[in-house]
Amino acid sequence: MDRIVVSESGPLEGEVPIHGAKNSVLKLMAATLLAAGDYELTNVPDIVDVRLMADLLEAMNVEVDLAPPRCRISVPALVRPEAPYELVERMRASIVVLGPLLARYGRARVALPGGDDFGPRPIDMHLDALRQLGAHFDTAHGNIEGRADRLLGTEVLLEYPSVGATENILMASVLAKGETVIENAAREPEISDLANFLVAMGASIEGAGTSTITVEGVDELHSTDHRVVADRIEAATFLSALGVAGGELTLSGARPEHMDMLLRKLSDMGMQICATEGGLWAAVHGRLDSVDIATLPYPGVATDYKPFIVAMLTVASGVGIVTENIFGGRFRYVDELRRMGADIRTEGHHAVVRGCERLSGAPVKAHDIRAGAALVVAGLGATGSTEISGVDHIDRGYTDLVGDLAAVGANIRRCS
Ligand code: EPU
Repeated sequence: MDRIVVSESGPLEGEVPIHGAKNSVLKLMAATLLAAGDYELTNVPDIVDVRLMADLLEAMNVEVDLAPPRCRISVPALVRPEAPYELVERMRASIVVLGPLLARYGRARVALPGGDDFGPRPIDMHLDALRQLGAHFDTAHGNIEGRADRLLGTEVLLEYPSVGATENILMASVLAKGETVIENAAREPEISDLANFLVAMGASIEGAGTSTITVEGVDELHSTDHRVVADRIEAATFLSALGVAGGELTLSGARPEHMDMLLRKLSDMGMQICATEGGLWAAVHGRLDSVDIATLPYPGVATDYKPFIVAMLTVASGVGIVTENIFGGRFRYVDELRRMGADIRTEGHHAVVRGCERLSGAPVKAHDIRAGAALVVAGLGATGSTEISGVDHIDRGYTDLVGDLAAVGANIRRCS
């Protein structure tokens, strides 16, 4: 049971490498199921979720040679189209194998993902859309059993721009017969990264990154190599560390054009930010000002940024109102921040955060990836030491959060 111990730190100074995006690489790995052959992914983050996705592919008879930052994948002509409960239960994103399996093999058995710390996370939109493409589903013994003859292109109107549903439909429709139009599609940069990968595999896709994606199905795809897009959430984590501890950081490899709305908010708070040749530079001198934010699908402020913004607001000057519009239950870490002396009132999906000069270090527990990393960030602005347990959550999404922060001057260590 590892713990991370953080003490008041700053100013931070130096360069932090931004790794490939967790929320892209997992889908790229799933997409390899669409065609037999050898793939090489680069800029792969060294995180537990990638290991879990590798385990899932291996359970399907796919060979995975994972040596971050690269991952080689060899997909045989025939895979076992089943995602077992032990793996799906550990990683909800496993559901994205459903679309590629149905498209290529005409059948799939995927364990039903349960709820998680954000509350229930249904997959009704994934299933409805795949049904419209011609798939049939039964659920029995905790599994979804999907069947399809060749999928048929159609118009799919999503009632909400779900990231996972858009990805599943995209991966299903590239091998469907005819044209599929996805309306109200998610527009996240990770969707564009997936579409670029699929196009390199021979798919025909227009409009990825906009609300209307048009796919002309092809009969066959082929393997390819791909560099994973930079992780905007990891970049946001380091920017919030800077917001709390002050100093100057260069985030090498970051893609500021994928973080427009967040960067605008951070600059309203008083952070200096500019794009550089291969990333972005940011500086904070003195205390930040509070702002109000509301999470929205891309290009709005991502729900994944929210814990970091809340961590910054706890020590900013003034009061900030934070509204969560994506996941109803995503405020659990607030109780942990309160244990550190943060003045936060929650009501429904709103949080009112009144900044104080300093938090006070305390033992706290991470309940999910981003909330865990936000507690680390908060610890940088707390007197005494903050000891974070539940570090396994953080390992799911960060290559080396502790090492990267220590390298720019944070007082932080990991201990067993
Ligand atoms: N939803 C439904 N029905 C569906 C699908 C989604 O009601 O069939 C609801 C969800 O319950 C939620 C909302 O729609 O309230 C958004 O869900 P979405 O499908 O967009 O999210 P996701 O694909 O499950 C991905 C990321 C999350 C990120 C969200 C929102 C991955 C693996 N996960 O989840 O990232 O918060 O998009 O941007 O890509 C993380 O990295 O820690 C993380 C949780």
